[in-house]
Amino acid sequence: MKKTDIKELYQACDNFQDKDVIVAGWVKSCRGNGNFGFIDLTDGTCFKTLQIVFSKEKIANYDIVEKINTGSSILCSGKIKLTPQNKQPFEMQASEINIINATDGEYPLQKKRHTLEFLREIAYLRPRANLFNAVFRVRSKLAFLLHEFFENKGFVHVHTPLLTSSDCEGGSELFKVTTQDIYNEVKKFKPEDELFGKKIYLSPTGQLEGEACAFAFGKIYTFGPSFRAENSNTTRHLNEFWHLEPEVCFMNLDELMDLEEEMMKYIISEILKRCPDEMNFFNSYVEKGLFDKLNNVLHNTYGRITYTEAIEILKKNNDKFEFPVKWGSDIQTEHERYLSEVVFKKPVFVTDYPKEIKAFYMKQNEDGKTVRACDLLFPGIGEVTGGSQRETDYQKLLDRINQLGLKESDYWWYLNLRKFGSVEHSGFGLGFERIMMYITGVSNIRDVILFPRTPKNCEF
Ligand code: 4AD
Ligand code: MG
Repeated sequence: MKKTDIKELYQACDNFQDKDVIVAGWVKSCRGNGNFGFIDLTDGTCFKTLQIVFSKEKIANYDIVEKINTGSSILCSGKIKLTPQNKQPFEMQASEINIINATDGEYPLQKKRHTLEFLREIAYLRPRANLFNAVFRVRSKLAFLLHEFFENKGFVHVHTPLLTSSDCEGGSELFKVTTQDIYNEVKKFKPEDELFGKKIYLSPTGQLEGEACAFAFGKIYTFGPSFRAENSNTTRHLNEFWHLEPEVCFMNLDELMDLEEEMMKYIISEILKRCPDEMNFFNSYVEKGLFDKLNNVLHNTYGRITYTEAIEILKKNNDKFEFPVKWGSDIQTEHERYLSEVVFKKPVFVTDYPKEIKAFYMKQNEDGKTVRACDLLFPGIGEVTGGSQRETDYQKLLDRINQLGLKESDYWWYLNLRKFGSVEHSGFGLGFERIMMYITGVSNIRDVILFPRTPKNCEF
């Protein structure tokens, strides 16, 4: 007989009344006395578990029950019985239980509730813990929803490379990629000796290559890992994060912000519908009031404010900040949160930043001081997306590259895009883990990515 997924049982339990099925999975808990007992089984096909009831009368090898401990993998046959009066709508009455692999006494996930710090140390096991099971299930669905959103809008999904020769985000520090034996101090290293004949980095963004594709397909997005080598130990920075970057031709900054807002509302409303068990879990155990928070984001129009206006507001409250602001200073997390949590009490776009604190490719405004940038700030998180309208004027772009001390020779092809049928275009980058944090209520970015890469942490 074929094995049945626990998910199938939940989808149509009435059809299984009194039917014999085989299930296989991992024991979350097993308790019993000399005559009967219960196993709580997961098989990973859904967040809910199956309750298996077993009794001495019904199974021949009742003794093996002694050996079934938390984490053990088992195969079990039995009958499905509807139990409308109980918490679970049905249960399985076992007729045969076989252990596939019992856990030994060292299995670390024994308790119902471990600290998040402890679970980070056993990252290879934590997807089995309820919280992480829910987080990674939602992560999977959220990635799918993003693909669905852009697919429905006719975007082409392109795969941009992770190895690059240009440092296009300016401020961000990059990981160098080398094939040379750099730990051998005797040898002298030359870029010409590298496999690619020049210095190569792990890419902090797929945007530049994305722009090249936008001029072919009109609307594209790329979705993959991005790398930042900065030594920042915060709850919202990773050295390797997942980055979704759309790029759209014939689109200005206002239309880009409309697109971002529509995307956010789509993924949030759909995740509530498509992952109800996981979302209920987060709302009950991770962030009380999560549903209210998400509904607020669904049913409000996001704020829009220029950097200059934002600085005016922040300046009046400089006594509240660790880093007081003035025009020209970078907006830090504390300011981002003040704007979204105290001033707007909802997501807000901040636009038109000073060109000195933004990347070279952003469209320069008439004032000569600011660029058409937009950062989307979410309450409780801060920056979730960063985007801009792109500079299309060849000379202005080249001047900016030179002013910033970047090498023209690294950007020759990007500059050429401005000579070969260039049009107005805009794009943004979404930090996938940042939006995961917001949607799940999980407060540390290390807990929404499988194996986080942060300073001094690359074990698994
Ligand atoms: O603001 P950023 O640096 O913008 C870019 O890389 C542009 N090329 C995007 C574009 O226009 N196509 O990064 C975009 C987003 C940020 O808003 C943030 O959400 C996330 O990526 N991000 C990080 N997430 C986790 N850890 C880090 N170290 C991150 N750095 C950026
Ligand atoms: Mg940014």
